[in-house]
Amino acid sequence: MKKTVILLVCATLIGGCTPRSEAERFADNLLKKMTLREKLGQMSQFAPSTGVVTGPDGDPIDVYAMIKAGEIGSVLNLKTPQEIEHMQRIAVDSSRLGIPILFGHDIIHGCKIIFPINLASACSWNLDAVRKSASIAAYEASAMGIAWTFSPMCDVSADPRWGRVSEGAGEDPYLTAKMSAAMVEGYQGASLADSSTILSCVKHFAAYGAPEAGRDYNTVDMSERMFRDRYLPPYKAAIESGAATVMTSFNDFDAIPASGNDWLLKTLLRDELGFDGFVVSDYRAIEEMMAHGTAADMNEAAGTALNANLDMDMVSGAYLAYGEALVEEGIVSEKEIESMCRNILIAKYKLGLFDDPFRYGGADRFDKSIYKEENLESAREVARESMVLLKNDSGLLPLDSGERIALIGPFVSSPRAMLGSWTAFRDFDRTVTVDMGFKSRFPGRVSVAKGCDAFDDIEGGIADAVRAADKADVAVLVLGLPGELSGEAASMTSVELPDCQKKLLSAVRQTGKPVIVLLATGRPMALESVIDDIDALLLVWHPGTMGGHAIADLVSGDFSPSGHLAMSFPRCDGQIPVRYNYKNTGRPADGVGLRSTNSRKIYQSCYLFTPNAPLYPFGYGLSYTEFSFDSLEVLTPEVALGESVRIRARVSNVGNREGAAVAQLYMRDLVASTTRPVRELKGFEKLFLKKGESRFVEFVLTPDDMAFCRKDMEFAQEPGEFKVWIGDSSDAALEGVFVVK
Ligand code: BGC
Repeated sequence: MKKTVILLVCATLIGGCTPRSEAERFADNLLKKMTLREKLGQMSQFAPSTGVVTGPDGDPIDVYAMIKAGEIGSVLNLKTPQEIEHMQRIAVDSSRLGIPILFGHDIIHGCKIIFPINLASACSWNLDAVRKSASIAAYEASAMGIAWTFSPMCDVSADPRWGRVSEGAGEDPYLTAKMSAAMVEGYQGASLADSSTILSCVKHFAAYGAPEAGRDYNTVDMSERMFRDRYLPPYKAAIESGAATVMTSFNDFDAIPASGNDWLLKTLLRDELGFDGFVVSDYRAIEEMMAHGTAADMNEAAGTALNANLDMDMVSGAYLAYGEALVEEGIVSEKEIESMCRNILIAKYKLGLFDDPFRYGGADRFDKSIYKEENLESAREVARESMVLLKNDSGLLPLDSGERIALIGPFVSSPRAMLGSWTAFRDFDRTVTVDMGFKSRFPGRVSVAKGCDAFDDIEGGIADAVRAADKADVAVLVLGLPGELSGEAASMTSVELPDCQKKLLSAVRQTGKPVIVLLATGRPMALESVIDDIDALLLVWHPGTMGGHAIADLVSGDFSPSGHLAMSFPRCDGQIPVRYNYKNTGRPADGVGLRSTNSRKIYQSCYLFTPNAPLYPFGYGLSYTEFSFDSLEVLTPEVALGESVRIRARVSNVGNREGAAVAQLYMRDLVASTTRPVRELKGFEKLFLKKGESRFVEFVLTPDDMAFCRKDMEFAQEPGEFKVWIGDSSDAALEGVFVVK
């Protein structure tokens, strides 16, 4: 009797007899009816809106015939609700099993209403606002029939040469983890069955943010320890918050392209992180294994990706073309294909697509759902919160005394500069440009002069700008980089201001009028060579549809800036990559290597002539009011391994108006079995304080927060002494200590 019970328990555990969910049962039943080709079809995604669609051999594909044959499981990049509905109709009515298509799109920072680029939103340090932006994006996208976004990008990067920094949350693993998780929650909501939520996609797995020399798609090679400490946490956090899908990256990782990397996709993603959704390749990334030189042909590339358990092929067509033969030859097992296809069917089931393939609405719902007033207001709020006041000599900003304003620069009237990259559904005519925002907030006080183009002089441009500045009380220059020059395939060797803009700035400076710069950019820029010509500097990023109004909200003083940098701003190109969480080295620097050519060289880890510190560090940002931090107290100065540490400090608004402070907690593990960063962000809280108001912030540092990849490769805590700081940037000075026994 006893034996039978034990046997039964074992059979349950070993034989996978854990109770199946409804979704799993549904998928298993459906799989029984599917041919191998139909399974491979579900695992294939195509992009018919990109013009001529070609198959693996370059032949044109008849998409509709393929849908009817059950050969397409997912489609990306359709542009209208009508197109989506039409295609879904064909899949459901004319294919043998009527399996609905999963429509995906890059809804990266908004759908119709464009929110600030992701790097900017991260500077808000406001998780509720970021979560809400993602849920509004999902609300608008789902109304079109889109059920899947390829977001959030969880790639950590400290390299502003890499254009895709605009899509992430900057250089810090902790902040990026929090932002990524909040986005997943926003897109997916409480239930995927809700018709306003969509699948999110954690990308780009893995370490795509560390390409050599900041060049997009380039080789990534680093120690497993560095990967686990610095790059893995955001992917992990997003998966833990329930992300339904993961996208592989274009790069190789430890010399194996990510899309064929079974350590990444099986050992780490499935076995260790416990991910149970489905994985999609990046665009043609399976095919690209040939260029990487790890597959001789598409057949081999398909086999490698299938054997790495990459569930869905984005666009290369390799699975459909070679999958059956690979099974026949015994290179790939049909059982594994079945389990990959099952992951996809389960996602479709969870979305409710099998109940109602048209559940998202279509043209009618779409028209009613986009550009809602309250959602535009949310976009304006988060844009405001994402801007960072970097300099404000003698309180030049805000302009609240009736000043006449000369609004100058290449981006003054540019909707594109407000939007940034990845804005497939943008409407320029719904975008509030800087001049529109200024004219509506400062009626009768604004004159406009372009001055120059982004990269080129324009005839008479500088003379016009100087004339405008002469006639005004203050010159406001909108400088930076065009919106389309960030994002994918937008790497640059210099992040300085283009020469023509430097010339414009210097000419306006010479008028003697106070100079304010509004910096529109998708990446940190190196401003040391021009910073002395600027009295006040407000980093506005690419702030989205409501950008012009949000900028005017801050410039006018209607609101106080509260953004803090999610990525350090280097002094000059040669400092890149520069980050706050560097390691001490054996020869830590306390100065510059040489102050002048005849001074003595110092043998420290530093540059000759240039300090190591960036121009503006991670976490930095000013306000129109002032905050002070004091009374730091470690409430638990001695704890045992496995116990949490509590730390608090008082934050006071000691300036002349209300505003929001960002209290940041940093930690340093003083002696460990591996070298540790000099500081690591471990907590933050944004607090709104009235003039004269004080409040205590309390942080709890958990054993997980203290964990790192130890010498023995365990990700865990170690005993020892720790330092902590609380303040409003990574330079925070207020410190305390604690000991873990
Ligand atoms: C990008 C992905 C994107 C995909 C689909 C690729 O080029 O790297 O981030 O989701 O295209 O558009």
